[in-house]
Amino acid sequence: MSGTKTISFTLNGAKKEFAIAPGELLVKLLRRSGLTGTKEGCDEGTCGACTVIVDGRAVMSCIMPAFLVEGRRVETIEGVGDFGKVHPIQQALADAGAVQCGYCIPGLIMSAKALLEEKPDASDEDIRTHMDGNLCRCTGYEKIWTALRNVRDANQPKQA
Ligand code: FES
Ligand code: FES
Repeated sequence: MSGTKTISFTLNGAKKEFAIAPGELLVKLLRRSGLTGTKEGCDEGTCGACTVIVDGRAVMSCIMPAFLVEGRRVETIEGVGDFGKVHPIQQALADAGAVQCGYCIPGLIMSAKALLEEKPDASDEDIRTHMDGNLCRCTGYEKIWTALRNVRDANQPKQA
């Protein structure tokens, strides 16, 4: 590829190197590398399907040039959990019946994970506001919010 550049960053805990094309977006890099859990929806930063975590912050990978993650820490849904080790957010969404077609779910989980790690005592309003950028055409959102409130509540210190 002409004009390629090599970048390295930490991807789901492992140091990786990639050759990227000029202007290549992070979502394209991830998906061509086999990490297809990160979805493409609108491709213009409005649906949240492509959300990943970069240095602890939820970002929309469809509008992030890949070169910007040089030297940084990137986490995708593949690093969050799997059938043998389900993440509490995944479990809570399943328990609340908050997953229908599932297309929005990886991005939604990444967004929620970033919030609840930064602010474990997030208010109901914090949750709704933060999740504003993650669109779901199926569920009507109530079950998603219920699931995330349940995760937050389960993480609160127990009263003596
Ligand atoms: S695909 Fe990135 S925000 Fe919609
Ligand atoms: S579960 Fe279908 S878009 Fe959210």
